Amino acid sequence: MTETNFIPENLSNIQEKGACTWKSPSNIALVKYWGKSDPQLPKNPSISFTLDACHTITTLKFQEKKVQDQQFSFDVFFEGKKKEAFKPKIVSFFERIEVYMPFLKEYHFEIHSENSFPHSSGIASSASGLSAIALCLMSMEKLMNPSMEQAYFNQKASFLARLGSGSAARSIEGELVVWGVHPEVVGSSDLYGVTLEQDVHPVFKKYQDTILLVDKGEKVVSSTVGHQLMHQHPFAKQRFEQARQNLAVMLTVLKNGDLDRFVEIVESEALTLHAMMMTSMPYFILMKPNTLEIIQKIGAFRARTQLHVCFTLDAGANVHVLYPANEKKEVLEFIENELVVFCQKNHYICDSAGNGAKLLNEDALNATKLEKQ
Ligand code: PMV
Repeated sequence: MTETNFIPENLSNIQEKGACTWKSPSNIALVKYWGKSDPQLPKNPSISFTLDACHTITTLKFQEKKVQDQQFSFDVFFEGKKKEAFKPKIVSFFERIEVYMPFLKEYHFEIHSENSFPHSSGIASSASGLSAIALCLMSMEKLMNPSMEQAYFNQKASFLARLGSGSAARSIEGELVVWGVHPEVVGSSDLYGVTLEQDVHPVFKKYQDTILLVDKGEKVVSSTVGHQLMHQHPFAKQRFEQARQNLAVMLTVLKNGDLDRFVEIVESEALTLHAMMMTSMPYFILMKPNTLEIIQKIGAFRARTQLHVCFTLDAGANVHVLYPANEKKEVLEFIENELVVFCQKNHYICDSAGNGAKLLNEDALNATKLEKQ
């Protein structure tokens, strides 16, 4: 597959208006993506668990413009309120994907989104948010090309989502998704995410992720700036190579269920991500004192109990606590007793690996299907 495969050729069943709603999840990377080249191509492959509870629900309403012009026309609403501030990001997303969605300027859109997690919880909503819009646009394209196959639908949804926010490419399917070319993952691509097809040990089924909300504030550095700083980074080359090696080991671990090795790689990846931020010029530090307190406590608890709990981090201060489903009772007790005090307002979110995005209103879609005369 190359980019040109995603330029539609046979859009015949033109729609006058319609609407669709998708629920799309967030994801948490085990091997991290940090560093990219234009247009949103990763410098190294990454792998993530698709999440279940943390998601965005987006409804896209579309209506053919009465007078055609050369502008993108849309209104965006977040949790019921019009959000002008979200528009520039969506305009640049539309600009990037227009060649693959050539009908965009022919319609007026209304985009209505809401998140299952509190806004300003420090949880990045770009993966779930942009994958949800990408999926809605794909539903629209599918109406115009009803013979489109599901595999192509998912691949192109991931491809479009990636052009909005890199990690969003991993939010279409589940439970484990690889994005970026890796010699040991058949079909892997820099253009879109692919579900991991190999055998996965049952211990990783419904793997638990409890997200400790350490800092709900806005990020001090956008991930766009962070990725850019990898261009002149003194350790970039070694880092990209290390990620490739860690992914190779992770593939074996996911097969054989070696949780000790899993813990080692996941924690090292999280700390390496932050080490890259701390050693860029200018540097930035996204961890907070409570992030470190939690990390220390998790290490001590693991040593004491021999349980397989570990931490990972996104580009922020919150801590994702990962553990197998059969250790849930003990780990939740530990979180309640020892970690919750380090969370803002004692807040945390219980999540687990999930199966990917879902179309919520197929009926409405069919009901609004109109053939153009
Ligand atoms: O998708 P972006 O451009 O916001 O990049 C975020 C990348 C990390 O979340 C920090 C790591 C990852 O692989 O998800």
